[in-house]
This record gives sequence, C-alpha cells and structure tokens, in this order.
Amino acid sequence: MSTYSAIPNDLEAFWMPFTANQQFKSNPRMLVSAENMYYKSQDGRDILDGTAGLWCVNAGHKREKIVSAIQAQVEELDYAPAFQMGHPKAFALANKLVEITPEDMNHVFFTNSGSESVETALKIAIAYQRMRGQVSRTRLIGRERGYHGVNFGGISVGGIVNNRKMFGTLLSGVDHLPHTHLPDLNSFSKGQPEHGLELANDLERIIKLHDASTIAAVIVEPVSGSTGVLIPPVGYLERLRDLCDHYEILLIFDEVITGFGRLGTPFAADYFGVVPDIICAAKGLTNGIIPMGAVIVKDEIYSQFMTGPKDTIELFHGYTYSGNPVAAAAAIATLEVYEEDGLFSRASELAAYWQEALHSLADYPFVIDIRNIGLIGAIELEPIQGHPTKRAFSAFLRAFERGCLIRTTGDIIAISPPLIIKKTQIDELVGCIGDVLSELE
Ligand SMILES: Cc1ncc(COP(=O)(O)O)c(C=O)c1O
Repeated sequence: MSTYSAIPNDLEAFWMPFTANQQFKSNPRMLVSAENMYYKSQDGRDILDGTAGLWCVNAGHKREKIVSAIQAQVEELDYAPAFQMGHPKAFALANKLVEITPEDMNHVFFTNSGSESVETALKIAIAYQRMRGQVSRTRLIGRERGYHGVNFGGISVGGIVNNRKMFGTLLSGVDHLPHTHLPDLNSFSKGQPEHGLELANDLERIIKLHDASTIAAVIVEPVSGSTGVLIPPVGYLERLRDLCDHYEILLIFDEVITGFGRLGTPFAADYFGVVPDIICAAKGLTNGIIPMGAVIVKDEIYSQFMTGPKDTIELFHGYTYSGNPVAAAAAIATLEVYEEDGLFSRASELAAYWQEALHSLADYPFVIDIRNIGLIGAIELEPIQGHPTKRAFSAFLRAFERGCLIRTTGDIIAISPPLIIKKTQIDELVGCIGDVLSELE
C-alpha cells in the first residue's frame, strides 16, 4: 500500500497535462492501483480500463513478468550513459524488436516517448536526404487532424487547430494533406471506409506546388487516434506509398498507438500491407510502464549514415535516456508477454465481436457515427450547439462514475482496451457506454 494519502490535501502544485485542472481539482478522479483489466479508484471501486491507460497498456496491468524484469534490472544496472557507451539490454531489445518489424526495417533508435520518436524521425528524414546529396529536401508534409505529440516538430506536421492558436508560427517549410474524415459518405462504416482514396492524390498537388526536390518526408498516422479515430479509406495508404516512391520522398508511419498489436498485427504496416520507410513507436513498447519510444528505419537509411569516417558521430542526436537499462528490460519482458499470450493477433480474433458490439450502439441518442478497426472504436456524438466537447466530456465523467474508463476527444468517445480483454468485458464496456448514452442530455 502507498504511504501517500489517496487524495492529497493540496492538489495545486501539480499542473496536470491535457487536463481541465480546475474541474479536476474541484472533484478529483484518482486511480490508486491496477490489475489486468481493472483500475481501482480511491473510493475502492473497480474501473474497467476501456482505453489501455492511454493506448499503451496492451497486455493489461501489473503483469508479473514485466514487474520482475524491472525489479531485477534496477538491482543489476540502474543507469548507463547512452552516448559512446553501451549496455547489453539495449542491443538485445533492438534485436528482438527488429524480429517483429516489417522486412528491411532492421535498425532502431531509442527515445523516451512518442513525441520524441516523432522529432527523431523528422530529423533522421531530413538528415538522410542530406546524406544522399539531396540537400534541398527539407520540407515535411503532415496531415490535417494528425496528432504527432507535443513538441515543435510534431505539432507543426500535426493538424490540430489548438496548437496553431496557442503556440505561434511553428516550423516553417511544412505543408498538410487533407484529413480523410468524410462523414457524409462514410458514417457507420465497419472497418476501413470505402470512400476517400482520392484524397491521397492531394500529395501530388502539394508536390507540384513545392517541387519534389524540396520535400524530405510525409508523416501520417496509419489510423489517427487522438483526433477521433480516423480510419484510412481503402487504398489510401497504398496510394501515398506509390507517390512517395515515385517522387523519392520518405514515408513515415507514426505507429505510436497502432504498434504492438492494436490492429491484430504487430504494426499497422502489416495490417495494411504498406511498409513505410520509418516507423515511430512508443506506448505499447513497454506496456506503458516505463517511458520508452523507438524509431525503426529501413536498412537503406541506416546504411546511408554509416559511410563516413569511422570515428565521427553519424547522427548528431540522442537522449540521456535513449535505451535506458530499466526501460529496455521492461520492453524485452513486454515483447515476451505479447508473444507468449499471442497478443499480436488477439485483436484480429476479437475484431468481429468488437465491431458488432460497438455498432449495437448506433441507435442510442446523439450518436452520429461509429467507427472501428482492430481493437479501436469511436462513437461520435452530436455536439451541444455552442458547446463543443461538453456532451462527450459529460459521457466521460458519467462512465467513470459507472465504473469504466473511456476517453473523449472533441465530441468523440474513443475506446482502445488492453488486448487481453474478454468478450464478457467487451459486453461490460459497451453496456456501460450504452447506459451512459441513455442518460446524456
Ligand atoms: C500518433 C501519436 N504520436 C505521438 C504521440 C505522442 O506520444 P507521447 O505522449 O508518448 O509523447 C501520441 C500520443 O498519443 C500519438 O497518438
């Protein structure tokens, strides 16, 4: 048991991230422990985890193997410098990771979060173009409604209005594809929506505007999560891949939420059969327990950097905690748990059941769309006129009261449970959301 009181008597010092601090501090929602599919709240209630924490606890909570690996690692080697020095676990982890990455993606750069993976990927892309003599290829193409973390590169290639309102002019030399959300054509699609492939052709328009010789990379989430679960239309990612190949532009998949089994395959690249040049990962890499991210690159990119003098640093980039021993131990144990429990394919086994359960909510009040893929689901609500986000936030609060953790973004409920979820727990989660929807105003 923690020696701290579950509700400290002063909540002011901690400035909470992405939180309505004033609302929270007037009525705190504290989680005090967790096991498998459930959190425990400070008032002793079991809370079904409908979001795998923040899309990261893919193997469920308090997994013995991961906990022990972390404990043992702290005893053995707590920290080792990350620059010009190595320790065995980081190499072992990189080797293990490339066993499950798409073919020809055999090199890993470690970071500490999804945001850092994105910054790292963007820097590698620009540096790679320079290394191969394409020095004018510095431009980055993102997408409207893309979320790539919170750092300046990520919010620049991302397409979220609040970041543009709040944080200034961001990086220059960035352009954006249109988002692929077409509610008039695709509402209540099951799996990939049928319409919207042609939106990928906008890349060609952007290339014609800027010229291919100025563009380093395109970055997209294969499935956008944080802006409300936007699933790529059939053929869309394939088309982006073709255009990038044709114009020698790198394609980066931000797989921070789709990596590690979320769609029923190790990565979304496997699910869609589209292999990018760079993958950004984080979250599920350590089952969310210790911060860690990874950028996985194609052999050709890594090799391009390994051609200079043998004693110079090839990539002028890295973090104090890149490949941290405790994080590496946690990640190795996590990958073992995923393999032992068959969690990379679990989402595909459950996908049909998940889909039918979610779409059973179609006729509830205020529901204007339901979307699903793998073990991801979204229920979009009609906003209250003049008060966007309020209705969904009220659903979130009511769900917590009723014993299930969901997440909302805008007026969209997004759910992404741990991959160990059982069918009965899918029923429990969807039942809870149904009860909440029935009482919404
Ligand atoms: C696609 C994507 N990229 C990047 C991030 C940022 O990850 P982090 O919060 O670990 O920095 C997220 C987080 O949700 C994400 O969904």
